[in-house]
Amino acid sequence: MPLLEVRNLKQYFRVGGGFFAKKKVVKAVDNLSFVIEKGETLGLVGESGCGKSTTGRSVLRLLPKSPTEGEIYYNGADITRAEMLPYRRKMQIVFQDPYASLDPRVTVGDTVGEALDIHKLYENRAERQEKIMSLLHTVGLNSEHSNRYPHEFSGGQRQRIGIARALAVDPEFIVCDEPVSALDVSIQAQIVNMFEDLQQERQLAYLFIAHDLSVVKHISNRIGVMYLGKLVELAPSDELTFHSLHPYTQSLISAIPVPDPKVRVKRIALEGDVPSPLDPPSGCNFRTRCPRAEAKCAEREPEMREIKTGHFVSCHLI
Ligand SMILES: Nc1ncnc2c1ncn2[C@@H]1O[C@H](COP(=O)(O)OP(=O)(O)OP(=O)(O)O)[C@@H](O)[C@H]1O
Ligand SMILES: [Mg+2]
Repeated sequence: MPLLEVRNLKQYFRVGGGFFAKKKVVKAVDNLSFVIEKGETLGLVGESGCGKSTTGRSVLRLLPKSPTEGEIYYNGADITRAEMLPYRRKMQIVFQDPYASLDPRVTVGDTVGEALDIHKLYENRAERQEKIMSLLHTVGLNSEHSNRYPHEFSGGQRQRIGIARALAVDPEFIVCDEPVSALDVSIQAQIVNMFEDLQQERQLAYLFIAHDLSVVKHISNRIGVMYLGKLVELAPSDELTFHSLHPYTQSLISAIPVPDPKVRVKRIALEGDVPSPLDPPSGCNFRTRCPRAEAKCAEREPEMREIKTGHFVSCHLI
């Protein structure tokens, strides 16, 4: 049984609507299916606005509304509409912007301690303090940091605080929503390495979200590529990096800078902008930017098909 199973998940938002205007629907997540095994990392990539964060929040049930359609199973239990408190200990999130996600008036010690408080994970003050110190050490901070406030820390250190907070409840699964995107490149690798070490030590499973394939390809066992609310390709990390099939994935891969100047990779630049999610194209929603689109692409929506074992793609031309 997978740790997390998502079946045909849809998470729509109703937006706008004034006196005259009708409400419109943003299909932020539209019919997503995937699984995450215990201890595994599934990377999730795609351009801004394609629905990565909504996917992460939807599976953790952090959105004000439960999913529009579809099901989410955690360890076999249907949590699509379940009361989440018992699951919050097992499922955590680390956000992109560690400053915005930390309360500036709360010390680092109490930020981590709050998670322990909510789930009553200590017998007495001494044990609480001990756990906080141990968590700070785990993420490479020290006891002196405990009484300081978030603004006294660098971006990388703040992200460590966010990670300590997520780890406080001893979770099994963490949604990492672009946890290194806001950090200096020199710091990114440190934090990614820490995520990897923590995974080894604690058998953690991650849904690791990033804009950029280069960030997730090392840490992920498998990678899913999203475009306008849908998964277009899903495959083991190496398979996706070296044998991608979907034209959108291929354009993302061609955009990764190659360190060796002698190696020339043909860049596949996409034309135009991502269409508005309020008014997505008919048929395959990538067709308006696809270099290979044909007439049939406008007619029917492609289905996700397993082309090779574990390699899924949604494209009429493959
Ligand atoms: N609460 C909301 N109400 C209305 N629309 C929303 C809401 N949250 C997200 N959306 C819309 O849903 C779509 C997906 O947004 P989401 O934040 O999930 O994308 P993302 O892939 O995480 O983008 P980014 O890379 O910029 O973080 C976008 O069109 C966004 O405007
Ligand atoms: Mg996001």
